[in-house]
Amino acid sequence: MRLILALLILAAANALAQTTATLSIDALHPTAQISPTLYGIMSEEINHSYDGGLYAELIANRTFQNNRRRSLERWILVEKGASEAAISLDTTTGPSAALPNSLKLVVTSADAHSLAGFLNTGYWGIALHPSTTYIGSFYARSDTPGLGPITVRLVNNQTGAVAASATVPVLENSWRPNFFTLKTAAALQTSADNHIEFLVAHPGTAWFSLLSLFPPTWHDQPNGFRPDLMEKLAALHPKFLRFPGGNYLEGQRLEDHYDWKKTIGFLVDRPTHPTPWMYRSSDGMGLLEFLTWCEDLHMEPLLAVFSGYALNHDHINAGKDLEPFVQDALEEIEYITGSTDTRWGAERARFGHPAPFPLHYIEIGNEEYHDPSGTYDARFAQFYNAIKKAHPQLQIIASAPVTSVRPDIIDDNDHAANRHFYRTAEQFFLDVHRYDSYDRSGPKILVGEWATREGTPTTNLGAALADAAWMTGLERNSDLVVMASYAPLFVNLSPFAMQWEADLIGFDALSSYGSPSYYAQVMFSNHLGDQILASTLDTTNPRLFESVTADSKTGRLHIKLVNASSIPQPVDLKIAGAPRIRPAMTITTLTGKTTKDTNSITEPTHIVPTVTHTNTAAASFRHLVPAYSIQVLDIDRTP
Ligand code: AHR
Repeated sequence: MRLILALLILAAANALAQTTATLSIDALHPTAQISPTLYGIMSEEINHSYDGGLYAELIANRTFQNNRRRSLERWILVEKGASEAAISLDTTTGPSAALPNSLKLVVTSADAHSLAGFLNTGYWGIALHPSTTYIGSFYARSDTPGLGPITVRLVNNQTGAVAASATVPVLENSWRPNFFTLKTAAALQTSADNHIEFLVAHPGTAWFSLLSLFPPTWHDQPNGFRPDLMEKLAALHPKFLRFPGGNYLEGQRLEDHYDWKKTIGFLVDRPTHPTPWMYRSSDGMGLLEFLTWCEDLHMEPLLAVFSGYALNHDHINAGKDLEPFVQDALEEIEYITGSTDTRWGAERARFGHPAPFPLHYIEIGNEEYHDPSGTYDARFAQFYNAIKKAHPQLQIIASAPVTSVRPDIIDDNDHAANRHFYRTAEQFFLDVHRYDSYDRSGPKILVGEWATREGTPTTNLGAALADAAWMTGLERNSDLVVMASYAPLFVNLSPFAMQWEADLIGFDALSSYGSPSYYAQVMFSNHLGDQILASTLDTTNPRLFESVTADSKTGRLHIKLVNASSIPQPVDLKIAGAPRIRPAMTITTLTGKTTKDTNSITEPTHIVPTVTHTNTAAASFRHLVPAYSIQVLDIDRTP
């Protein structure tokens, strides 16, 4: 019985496999230019994307600002030998007006053999590598002249072995910054199972805040980024960064919105703020850091500005009440683009960046179609008019439909669901032709957030197939869809770190990996060119998708084929208008056995693109697209 069933399934599979599809391409007449900003990334503080993620700081809860709950979270008292001590949150003294809190250490008994103090567990561990220098600092004050020095050391959680140690001389009576360097030995085994200790050998009292430790960062930038994550982003070649949110822009309450002025300047002057994602942002990743991130990866900033609407549905009415927020947006633009003789341009220069940043895109708010008050139209118009008056060259993006003024770009949404495009694979397959018939006379389109949400914590091959299928539609219509950014970008895999399942890149304290969806993004953005070619697909397979683009400078064709079905698909390619096709063809393939196949922190490269070369390309040739696969065929033409 089983054998008969298997034979029947095989016969059915063969029958479908034998139905050859035809892809006809007109290589002579490009239909439109591809938007040079088509593929970007969207990011916000969610899933510990920055704190405990991209932002390379190793000490968690470094400023004790979350005094509403678990204020000393991740800090633990240390009493070695016969020492006696206590730690507590002190809300009466801190290193600055922005950081009024501190950790108070009271040591009643300690000596050189019985040290006392506290430790920090890091963001789910502290990753240490051999022969590596870690740069540290902290603010402190003490009313006990003989309390110091402070011994700072990196210690393995399991063995107690000290990986590196340094001392900081005597503390002063008033708040002062202190600096130290920790260097690990060549023999150290790489591990994240470590913590950092701050210890004293004498009784007394001291207060601490802004305790910080940085590993080597991307391009050795101070206050910088984690290199492995930056490398993964660089491989995407993203053309823009949509930031700072997302819900992170709006805040749960109006007063919690992303207030850019509180995220610039010295770290000691940044008050930190609550995010809507259950934890507080250190704001070490402030506006200037976002901008240098853009600069490092050659991304256009797509700046979202707070529009006077919060997630709890509170809003600020257009008119006089909204004026300060419009002014804030104008000053933010000046901070980014102003010359050094402007107030905010000078402020930017004071912190190391005299050159203005490029800025072409401003989005007003986020997901404003959720606002039940119906005030977005008027609020948008107020921002639009003020920004256009001062900066007519800027492209203004509406985050929901408006009628009072015409936006340059609209952040499109899934109208049926009234939200960004977070969908199942099936929904995306059915919507591949969404933009084919969109009105070309309206505003251009940003797809500000989208993802196939299948697989957790990161997406699986089934999600990647649906992503790729939908991207063929974005590419074919990129005269209209000028920007698209997958979201969310990151997830920290540690316990309780994730708020949003199905993300693009997963990481823990030590390492990171890309999901199959990540590799689909890499493939699409790295094989794009600048022209859309007309193509027609004749097939009986409802899970076969295509797009064809070309590079006008090299003549190279990029043929993308997505076979989301469980059986191989033969395709007859007929390339008209390009008789001098070279036979050499490079095939990049992402595939797996089932749609559930995926990558993980322990198996980071289970599903990755492979590259093969054939000599089978011609003006007319047959090609077999494997089951469950995304392929890019790169074919050259003789000029
Ligand atoms: O990407 C996660 C969230 O989804 C974003 O913050 C929000 O804009 C959307 O609803």
